[in-house]
Amino acid sequence: MAENIVTSDSFEHFLVTHPFKGKPENLYNSMNYIMQLGGKRMRPKFLMLAYKNAGGAQDNQALQLALAIETFHNFSLVHDDIMDKAPIRRGKKTVHEEWNIPTAILAGDNLLIKCFELILSTDFNNRIDLLNEFTRMSSLVCDGQQMDMNLPLMEFIEEADYLKMIELKTAILPACALKMGAMAAGLSEVEAQVYYDFGLNIGMAFQLQDDYLDAFGLEEEIGKQEGGDIIENKRTILYIHALHHLDMIQKREFLNWFEQPVHDLKLKIEKVREFFKSSGSDQYLAELKSSYETKALACLDTMCKDSEYKQQFLQLFDFLSARSK
Ligand code: IPE
Ligand code: IPE
Ligand code: MG
Ligand code: MG
Ligand code: MG
Repeated sequence: MAENIVTSDSFEHFLVTHPFKGKPENLYNSMNYIMQLGGKRMRPKFLMLAYKNAGGAQDNQALQLALAIETFHNFSLVHDDIMDKAPIRRGKKTVHEEWNIPTAILAGDNLLIKCFELILSTDFNNRIDLLNEFTRMSSLVCDGQQMDMNLPLMEFIEEADYLKMIELKTAILPACALKMGAMAAGLSEVEAQVYYDFGLNIGMAFQLQDDYLDAFGLEEEIGKQEGGDIIENKRTILYIHALHHLDMIQKREFLNWFEQPVHDLKLKIEKVREFFKSSGSDQYLAELKSSYETKALACLDTMCKDSEYKQQFLQLFDFLSARSK
């Protein structure tokens, strides 16, 4: 029987036993702080599943790649929390709150650099190809984050702008993780493409759910400030759909709540939530999410055929689809 990668703690164990070491201490402490705060670890789990499903057997080497992917994710969170002015992450203070903004910038920078070290020091013969995949993805994530920052400044915004933005900032990371896992196991770039497509669709569904939970989830569950996107006037799919589906009067009132400075943030969140619901935007988000999930499942059929890892992929898929945190 194959190890269950979704439920086992082998990645967690690898992460905890490979902390980043160096001085000044406050820099390395802040890097290890965010890495060890937990989280769902979905990206490393997908990388390991792809690696095993594609026939890989050097688990320790693959775990190092998985650590690189999780390290990249944590780099992006540390910088994202500065950009989004977020006070809480995984139920604890964000790095810039616990330390300060300069330390958080450097912790993020250094985490990103550690990813390259980790990939380059694996034994995989094709590690330069793996690094190529990784660098291509890394640069595009920055493009996506800048698009996210640009959205509030745009006069007109369409669903396609939002979808491109979430593809780059979020979906290409799990896509790349899966493709790297498959390539590390010996699949060609072309053969590994279906793994990428699976990850891309999962990633799109994942960010849609993230945007839903940010608007409607409870702080205790999501481990982030409740209504953080609403407070920051983030233009997610909920906002775009609501704008296109409210009548003129409702739209004016919605925009007043959304874009004018409001002192009572609790009330703002409550009002904006009502508009998201009355315009059917929450329902629309769920439908869109489900359309990406359907595409992901089609990729999974091609990837797995009768592999023993299909069940594990499905287990992680179901967990992510139903998640409330
Ligand atoms: C948060 O990712 C950032 C997004 C891309 C939405 P996760 O929700 O996977 O964060 P953790 O790692 O589980 O905390
Ligand atoms: C984060 O998107 C994407 C990246 C970190 C690249 P969000 O800003 O929606 O993520 P959360 O909600 O803070 O986790
Ligand atoms: Mg953000
Ligand atoms: Mg954020
Ligand atoms: Mg979010």
